[in-house]
Amino acid sequence: MQFLLICLLFSKSLADQYNINKTPFPDYFKFGAATAAYQIEGAWNEDGKGENIWDHFCHTRPKAVLNEDNGDIACDSYHLWERDIEMLKELGVNHYRFSISWARILPTGYTNVVSKEGINYYTKLIKELKRNNIEPMVTLYHWDLPQTLQDLGGWTNDIVVDAFVNFARICFESFGKYVRYWITVNEPFQVCHPGYGDGSLAPGLYSPGIGEYLCAHNLIKGHARVWRVYDDQFRDAQKGVISMAVHCGWYQAESNTTEDLEAAETKSQFVIGLYMHPIYLGDYPKVVKDRIAMRSEKEGFSKSRLPEFSEEEIEYIKDTHDFFGINYYSTYNVKAIAEPPIGEPSFEKDCGVFTYSPPEWESTQLSVMKNTPWGFRKMLKWIKDEYNSPEILVTENGIAIDEQYNDVTRIRYLKEHLSSVRDAMMFDDVNVTLYTVWSLLDNFEWSNGYTPKFGVYETNFSSPERTRTPRRSAKYYKHVATTHGIVWSQEN
Ligand code: NOJ
Repeated sequence: MQFLLICLLFSKSLADQYNINKTPFPDYFKFGAATAAYQIEGAWNEDGKGENIWDHFCHTRPKAVLNEDNGDIACDSYHLWERDIEMLKELGVNHYRFSISWARILPTGYTNVVSKEGINYYTKLIKELKRNNIEPMVTLYHWDLPQTLQDLGGWTNDIVVDAFVNFARICFESFGKYVRYWITVNEPFQVCHPGYGDGSLAPGLYSPGIGEYLCAHNLIKGHARVWRVYDDQFRDAQKGVISMAVHCGWYQAESNTTEDLEAAETKSQFVIGLYMHPIYLGDYPKVVKDRIAMRSEKEGFSKSRLPEFSEEEIEYIKDTHDFFGINYYSTYNVKAIAEPPIGEPSFEKDCGVFTYSPPEWESTQLSVMKNTPWGFRKMLKWIKDEYNSPEILVTENGIAIDEQYNDVTRIRYLKEHLSSVRDAMMFDDVNVTLYTVWSLLDNFEWSNGYTPKFGVYETNFSSPERTRTPRRSAKYYKHVATTHGIVWSQEN
């Protein structure tokens, strides 16, 4: 008996590592691929498109991006979208996740000018996808705010909430007839913390511990209003679903001490709970409110740096979700530390924990994204437990790795991550129904420019035609999408 127990425990710990789950995904499960407007479209000032914060950031602070790259041309998908659809057909996927460039539809940021060309571009794309039985999954905000709105403070100014709702309404009116999946905002934490906190991504505002919480507050309100507009005015006729897509890194306690376990939970609440708690459970998480209020007071502020929702707002925001969209890339270790000294405010000090990627974990091209498939299952289980078993859609998952065409590591990464998802479904009873690989093709990876290669298709950025060529991972993913099996006989 004891021997059996030891064997079971041993095989369990192996399964936690890289024991591939060989059970195919169920028939209802869907596979797709993802991109985002600024990262692939190019044509930054064509056909009347307005300037957005990424155009502005790359043009005015070129050194903020590796090799001074920018998205002026990117993959030129504004012109080559038909080739993109060919690739999706080759992969045999169910859905294509892409985003709509706000300033391509509304060049001034407002509804006073609606670009016919912008509407035409997305109409063509969406109709052609539908004609090929590929469901469009449309993100309304994937980081490219019109610069006119940024000039007024961007997401730190609540007038952006109205502007976002107006933009969304135009998208529902123009494309909603063909769209079943909407995503309001992609990765709210990555919009607010690097964008309005440490200033490392566009718009590059440095306002640690202040600007980023104003941004969060307005982004959550914007999301809720867009969800309610869809729910009240469009859902009956259009029959779609709409939610946020959240970057969920799994924060794992460095040890099993109460302090480290608490530290990891606090970190998850600061990064994920800050945005999802109001939407699922009502209001910001207690630990987040308490810590920011405590530190704000000690720092001499007259009130908490984290804005407050009124009772009415809490009710209005709660339950504005149809699924939980998760972007999973990596796991991080977290350990408890002494309370950081009082001084200049910052998000890190507000969290009050130490987060790191252990050097011995497998590297990718991005140092903050170690290859940690086992954390995916744990992340999914945490979401299930925290937010009352929502339906979970994996809206992004992928690896930056440059191995030319025979990308064995990407294939292994995908296989292990899919296996981790399958484990979560089978052994933890997590309701995952869809998976989306990031990315369809190599593209502009924000401040890392074109160096990280995320595509199952290579994009040749030296050729004016931006030639796309399938990597071996595209063949593996086609196998997954068309058979629902994780194991591939041609792997070796
Ligand atoms: C998340 C973002 O949504 C996407 O834009 C980015 O390229 C990938 N992660 C990879 O970092």
